[in-house]
Amino acid sequence: MRASCFTRPVLFATVLIAATAWAQQPASLKQAYQGDFYVGAAMNAAEITGQDQRSDAIILEQFNSISPENALKWAIVNPEPGQYNWGLADQYVAFGVEHHMWIVGHNLVWHNQVPAWVFRGKDGKLLTRDALLARMKEHIFLEVGRYKGKIQSWDVVNEALNDDGTLRHSLWYRIIGPDYIAKAFQYAHEADPKAQLTYNDYNLTNPEKLAGVIRLVKQLKAEGVTIDCVGMQNHDHLDSPTAAEEDAAIRAIAVTGVKVAISELDINVLPWPGTGNTAEVSMHMASSPKWNPWPNGLPRDVQQKLTDQYAALFRVFYKDRADISRVTFWGVTNAQSWLNNWPIPGRTNYPLLLDREGKPVPAFAAILNVPGEAR
Ligand code: G3I
Repeated sequence: MRASCFTRPVLFATVLIAATAWAQQPASLKQAYQGDFYVGAAMNAAEITGQDQRSDAIILEQFNSISPENALKWAIVNPEPGQYNWGLADQYVAFGVEHHMWIVGHNLVWHNQVPAWVFRGKDGKLLTRDALLARMKEHIFLEVGRYKGKIQSWDVVNEALNDDGTLRHSLWYRIIGPDYIAKAFQYAHEADPKAQLTYNDYNLTNPEKLAGVIRLVKQLKAEGVTIDCVGMQNHDHLDSPTAAEEDAAIRAIAVTGVKVAISELDINVLPWPGTGNTAEVSMHMASSPKWNPWPNGLPRDVQQKLTDQYAALFRVFYKDRADISRVTFWGVTNAQSWLNNWPIPGRTNYPLLLDREGKPVPAFAAILNVPGEAR
């Protein structure tokens, strides 16, 4: 009896401390960064259609922005001349509107996932500059116009730069010329003057490519073209970029007068056959067990490196929050990440914050705690 009288205040104090700590721990990613930037996730078809209810619940609990992993790309919405499949795109936008999300449109002009017919006439020959510009304008007006006032932010041009900062010689470039980028932004601005317009690319911590994107933004601005934001995709690795590299790139972009979106964040943990933080979709390699070392779970030391890299990046994002409009993860759980199939098919990768059962991995708590560390 005496013992319990003695322990009651101690117990009370312990409960109070635990309750205070619990109250201080934000309940979700969106709450942790409320007022700083949106925290988003890319949705796949199963999530958009409601087939994957478990992931949908996570999206609603954790995120206040969404991106369409594939649903709004040209090849999906307009695969053949005159054939439009708006079903999935409409469902995606309706989900975002219903749940008051910051809705991203991805993407309008890209060299990939665009049907071959777009660049050719009925005779099979490549279009003239004027004909391709007219086709681009029609596409942008149709898609941006359809979701005017609902999609708040568009990735207007995607991956137009080579790693050395020069313009990629895509069919857009070869047929229209370098001003296809300015034209795409002009058309998007005409179609929805209030939408945030973004140029989106990967590996922007590479100094040459960073210099290229800065040249591009300055040139567009000098020509009076509306560009509001640069999307840094951040398809990253455990050791790259460093926090200093990430910070330097965000700041260098922001001083040109645009916002930065961390637009497709994930961290590859598997052995990497290439160099640099590329997301070059044309890269492919044959599968072999040596490239898939952890099919049954991530070793503890690698998990720790993943936590450390995520925490380091989010400390930078939090520090630079005045310049950042959103941080979007490229997927919800590890089960559905594109990194299980690229650049080598059939691997077991661990790039996101939720495991294959939808449970948070240790990096999740580390990210939740970053704003608290700074206070
Ligand atoms: O729709 C077909 C389906 O009918 C078919 O049965 C199946 C068989 O493989 O393929 C399906 O298409 C796949 C499509 O995703 C939809 O799931 C393609 O093969 C596959 O290549 C495609 O991959 C997408 C990739 O872009 C293509 O470029 C990834 O899901 C998507 O995450 C990825 O996203 C890109 C961003 O848009 C731009 N930045 C890089 C990022 C990662 O590559």
